[in-house]
Amino acid sequence: MNLEGIDTGSVPHHVAVVMDGNGRWAQRRGLKRTEGHAAGEEALFDTVEGALELGIRWLTVYAFSTENWKRPADEVRFLMRFNESLLVRRSHELNDMGVRIRFAGRRNWRVPRRLIRRQDESIALTAHNRKLTLTIAFNYGGRAEIIDAVKGLVAEGVQPEKVTEKALRRHFYDPEMPDVDLMVRTSGEYRISNFLLWEIAYSELVFTDTLWPDFRREHLADAIREFQARERRFGGINGGDGD
Ligand code: IPE
Ligand code: IPE
Ligand code: MG
Repeated sequence: MNLEGIDTGSVPHHVAVVMDGNGRWAQRRGLKRTEGHAAGEEALFDTVEGALELGIRWLTVYAFSTENWKRPADEVRFLMRFNESLLVRRSHELNDMGVRIRFAGRRNWRVPRRLIRRQDESIALTAHNRKLTLTIAFNYGGRAEIIDAVKGLVAEGVQPEKVTEKALRRHFYDPEMPDVDLMVRTSGEYRISNFLLWEIAYSELVFTDTLWPDFRREHLADAIREFQARERRFGGINGGDGD
């Protein structure tokens, strides 16, 4: 990968990607939408390898949203089976690469139990890895995450004055997940679509016209260059060190 122009000492700690455009990629080739999802597998693995090369520590990818259940039943069924098969076929490879696999999303709502079991197996298999945490946002919605966290707080019987950002975060799908530094969305759509709403409060947003199945580590490197050209302020002045 061409690292020219990239300061490898200050790559974003947490990169989140909305893997969008699979359907359009397939339609342009006269293929079924589901073939676009299948072609996204190579994009994902190349991006993971790129993230490892760049030294990114957290990579979170949007694989299935709480709103994607609205899609035709056969597409939804394909996505459930495809994600299951991907874990079965490739989690050992990810393990060998030093990747820790995690999931973010509603577990106890609609997702087939078999897929949840595969998810739990890949979490356990890779739990000891520290190079890169790959979080697959599956049956994930940013609003659902906040609602589920509020439910957790209420169930705990927390008093109003104890409701803090830190307390809420403890009930997120992965309390250890840091805020997102860079969010990338492919396919030329300029929206968030209910991904990581809380966690992107001060993220840099990069949009690219590349459709997800065509996305490769070089595109990730381009996004990092764009990120490094930005000035982050976090509400302060002069680069955000004023707090
Ligand atoms: C993203 O690609 C993958 C999922 C949402 C599961 P799309 O399936 O949304 O592709 P387009 O946006 O229709 O091209
Ligand atoms: C967001 O893409 C969800 C995933 C990539 C998994 P969508 O294709 O579902 O988003 P909209 O419908 O274009 O906003
Ligand atoms: Mg889409």
